[in-house]
Amino acid sequence: VEIVFSKVKWYISGTGFYLPPRVVSNEEMSKYMDTTDKWIQERTGIKERRYVDPGVGPSDLAIPATEQALNAAGLTVKDIDFIIFATSTPDYYAPGSGCLLQNKMGFGEIGAVDVRVQCSGFLYGLSIAEQYIRTGMFKHILLIGAEVQSTAMNLTTEGRDTAIIFGDGAGAAIISKTDENRGIMSTHLHTDGRYVKELWLESPSSKSGHPRITGKDLHEGKQYLQMNGKEVFRHAVTRFPEVIWEALDANNLKKDDIHLLIPHQANLRITQTIQKKMGLENNQVISNIHKYGNTTAGTIPIALGEAVEEGKVSKGNILVFASFGSGFSWASAVVKW
Ligand code: COA
Repeated sequence: VEIVFSKVKWYISGTGFYLPPRVVSNEEMSKYMDTTDKWIQERTGIKERRYVDPGVGPSDLAIPATEQALNAAGLTVKDIDFIIFATSTPDYYAPGSGCLLQNKMGFGEIGAVDVRVQCSGFLYGLSIAEQYIRTGMFKHILLIGAEVQSTAMNLTTEGRDTAIIFGDGAGAAIISKTDENRGIMSTHLHTDGRYVKELWLESPSSKSGHPRITGKDLHEGKQYLQMNGKEVFRHAVTRFPEVIWEALDANNLKKDDIHLLIPHQANLRITQTIQKKMGLENNQVISNIHKYGNTTAGTIPIALGEAVEEGKVSKGNILVFASFGSGFSWASAVVKW
């Protein structure tokens, strides 16, 4: 039997995003730890981030983002065939946040899968959506990137290098089949597990014995996200340009063809270094980290949603997405809008 892969095209038919209302300024951070607004802005570009109130999970943040994306696509929950929920901070250990969202928004009894690839979660999710649409299995897929990182931060001087960086937020995109000459051109995925411990959250852990988290673990701060900032920075500024060039080369594109590069919002200095290394103009590169910090899987769909809302994206534009984060895992995608 000959298998013929379909030439089905797929595109982003709607975007949306949502940030919790509570703004946490650098000034406020300096009340919890020995830091200053000046230090944070100089080293990271971040002015403020958003934190949820207790009781709010990524599946809650995903609801308004999804509603906005469905509206933009002219679709309802009934039209969606599948949910892909990218998060490294799920509401619960089990079941996944996609399952919670299915119930909260009244989707049909469709499949829902969580993707845990941290800062690259949204792009991994995009590549999964790509495969389902290409094979003709699904017509419309909801892809979420949402995080509640605030509850994994050590809000004392001990945790200050990591705590100032991360925030909460959600972005959504609807991925749909199309017959038009547009859409997602390629996705590129990588990991290198040698660096697991450079950016990780150790506890609770299923392999640590009974119970999965002990008083000793808590005392040692294993419930907090731990980051070796210098090592992450060093790898990020190499991997980002590498994976962006890979995406451009795969599609015979040049850097000047990029209308917008939407990099994962890790740190303003990382974004500036990518821009410089690649020789891109200011207006080609999106940065919104000053407002939200690093929302992990949320940053790319939030930045995309904002760019669309601000009218920065028109049909036919070439967009490049790129990410790097815990794992290490990194990825890119090229989209003809
Ligand atoms: N406020 C004030 N001082 C701080 C601080 C804070 N929030 N965090 C760290 N410091 C101190 C350190 O303790 C250190 O003090 P010392 O010299 O007395 O030991 C000094 O500032 C320099 O620390 P260092 O870690 O060398 O700073 P840095 O220039 O590497 O900046 C990061 C730290 C975290 C901002 C930087 O490494 C970074 O951005 N890394 C990448 C992080 C990232 O993008 N993560 C997400 C990837 S998905």
